[in-house]
Amino acid sequence: MINKIINIAKEAGEVIKNGFGENLQIEFKTGDNNIVTNIDKAAEKIILDFVKKEFPSHSIIAEESGTKHNSSDYTWVIDPLDGTTNFAHGLPIFAVSIGVQKNDKTIAGVIYDVMNNKIYASEKGAGAFVNDEKISVTKNKTLSESLVVTGFPYDIKKDLEKTIRVFTNLLVKTRGVRRLGSAALDMCYVASGVFDAFWESGLKPWDVCAGLLLVEEAGGKISDFKGKPIDIFSNHFLTTNGLIHNAMIDVFNR
Ligand code: IPD
Ligand code: CA
Ligand code: CA
Repeated sequence: MINKIINIAKEAGEVIKNGFGENLQIEFKTGDNNIVTNIDKAAEKIILDFVKKEFPSHSIIAEESGTKHNSSDYTWVIDPLDGTTNFAHGLPIFAVSIGVQKNDKTIAGVIYDVMNNKIYASEKGAGAFVNDEKISVTKNKTLSESLVVTGFPYDIKKDLEKTIRVFTNLLVKTRGVRRLGSAALDMCYVASGVFDAFWESGLKPWDVCAGLLLVEEAGGKISDFKGKPIDIFSNHFLTTNGLIHNAMIDVFNR
């Protein structure tokens, strides 16, 4: 299964690579900052055609074409291009993210960092890997030695004050705060020991399905902002190296 997911993520990645820097057809989704391009759609079609052909009984949750419930225990959760705004502006930080769930639990996930040609892959209970090399989270125990990353939802106005308050507090308490514009890659960097934590609200199942498993399989911890368990349909996501998890939660609940 994992090799099949890797292959199809790479195929979609090729289309994305070829479309990078080219003339794009841009459409607006919700609001005037949430865009989709012809390349998002083309990449998604490649993945959907593959799933429908190879696993016709499986259900699908795909960002650009919605949900298709089937009778199978398996669901593919697909973000064909995570980081569309970066992609459309010529910033080479974006990825293909594909997770597979069995009975609502993620069993496999692949994130393809297209421009760096890196495949982040994990299977439940089998560890996390980048291009076949095992990865793990950092060992930092304090916020002051931590580099953390966040993202902002498209409807940023909704909880603006709280979002900025947390951001400001973490700017002061950590070594630095980054905002890359791809939630999937943010979690790859937590899993591979670059960032110590990632948090964001309002993410969707396709943004997080593969990334959450990757972080857990790399030895990290995931929860909401109060430390409660989450699934891909949750609203608040915190992923850390485990060691600074409680310190992060303290900041959210000050
Ligand atoms: C977005 C990215 C971004 C995050 C947004 C997501 P998209 O996904 O992951 O980093 O801040 O909340 O919606 O729209 O580029 O697939
Ligand atoms: Ca996304
Ligand atoms: Ca997307």
